[in-house]
Amino acid sequence: MYKNRFSRVGYVLAIAGSAIGLGNIWKFPYITGANGGGAFVLVFLLAVFTIGLSIFIAEIILGKIVKKDAVSTFETLSPKNNKYFKYIGFSFITGVLIISFYPIVIAWILHYIVLSFDTLPKSVSEAENYFLNYTQTGVFSQLFYFSLVFYSIYFIIKKGVKKGIEKLNNLLIPALFIIFLGMFLYSTTMSGFGKAFEFMFYVDFSNFNTNSILIAVGHAFFCLSVGVATILTYSASISDDTHILKATFFVVIMDILTAFISGLIIFAIIFSANATPDKGAGLVFITLPAIFYEMGSIGTIFAIFFFIALAFAAITSAVSMIEPAVMYLIERRGVKRAKATMIITFIAYFIGVFAILSMSNEFKEYLSVGGKNIFDILDFFTSAILMPLGGIAISIFVGYIMDKELLRSSLEPYMGKYIYSSWLFILRFLTPIAIFILMLKEIGVLNF
Ligand code: PHE
Repeated sequence: MYKNRFSRVGYVLAIAGSAIGLGNIWKFPYITGANGGGAFVLVFLLAVFTIGLSIFIAEIILGKIVKKDAVSTFETLSPKNNKYFKYIGFSFITGVLIISFYPIVIAWILHYIVLSFDTLPKSVSEAENYFLNYTQTGVFSQLFYFSLVFYSIYFIIKKGVKKGIEKLNNLLIPALFIIFLGMFLYSTTMSGFGKAFEFMFYVDFSNFNTNSILIAVGHAFFCLSVGVATILTYSASISDDTHILKATFFVVIMDILTAFISGLIIFAIIFSANATPDKGAGLVFITLPAIFYEMGSIGTIFAIFFFIALAFAAITSAVSMIEPAVMYLIERRGVKRAKATMIITFIAYFIGVFAILSMSNEFKEYLSVGGKNIFDILDFFTSAILMPLGGIAISIFVGYIMDKELLRSSLEPYMGKYIYSSWLFILRFLTPIAIFILMLKEIGVLNF
């Protein structure tokens, strides 16, 4: 049982901090742009409110009941004599893999904050060259910022749940909301705002294909931080007076709102400049900086605040990916927190360095598999395969394996009978079956 618990507000901000990240601000707008807009947004919403939410609540209750690291949690709740279910807890390894490439994007963001103070690229094509050139030849600069990010993560996690994680989120999440609100209000006055709104919310399935469903569901996992034991581990430090359902709704609504608002801000800027939202992963590093430049001094201010907000959102997510692995070492291996943090950050850092090198001109030949660099492989493998696998395992464990009475008595007081039964129904049937079918499609067994 943990001595250091989150305060009520601290817990909500910490899981909001984990959920709200690059997934919302960097990834959501560009995959919406690439997958046709409104129809994609609709499928994403459905996935969040069914599959994603069912696992999110399952992780919270697992953490709250046992109040230990992930492996011990599954071990404690396994039927007597079963030695295997505890391995579900090792889904925290996915978090370690994500944390090895996620800070690379934070490194780019830090570089772009500095760049915004200096001079931004003057056109989209110049910005595109700049970005490609930076990721392919700017190895030292990337390594510098990457190391800085890792040191910060190490510094925060070492301080523990209350003094590290809670403090960080209490500070950065409100700051992020304030920056975003200001930017959002300004973007509503821009000429492209109406078009941005229409692009995101006008549902037209003609540009939509079944692959987009896969991307939408994978993104629902990523955006809610589920399937990697993060929500479980944070919830092991929940205080007794936290209302699970209210906390969940607050976080999920905030998570979706941040994604929508950043989509609206970004598309409003893009459409106001008559540009197109299809630059993929480079959207915020290519299209946006060029437009910021064109906007003159207000654009510079926008750029600085935008990248700072992005860095805040990302760092609060990054710390949450590493905590489950650190907790495992502390609880199961008797390692002290500082050393556990050092070990996990080092492993992730080591993999990450290779991911940076795999994008560089000098090394990309040696460090890529099937034409894909390590960064892309890690990104795809974690969000399209490992997170859904973790999700399926959690939904089966909570839906079918653990003690039903314990589950009911822990959740029903917060949810009432009807919401509880609907949640359980989704968790037992819809979630595992939907993920299973999508994964069969992904590996090419099913074709639709
Ligand atoms: N939810 C985070 C984001 O949207 C990513 C994340 C994944 C965080 C897994 C923790 C664990 O960026």
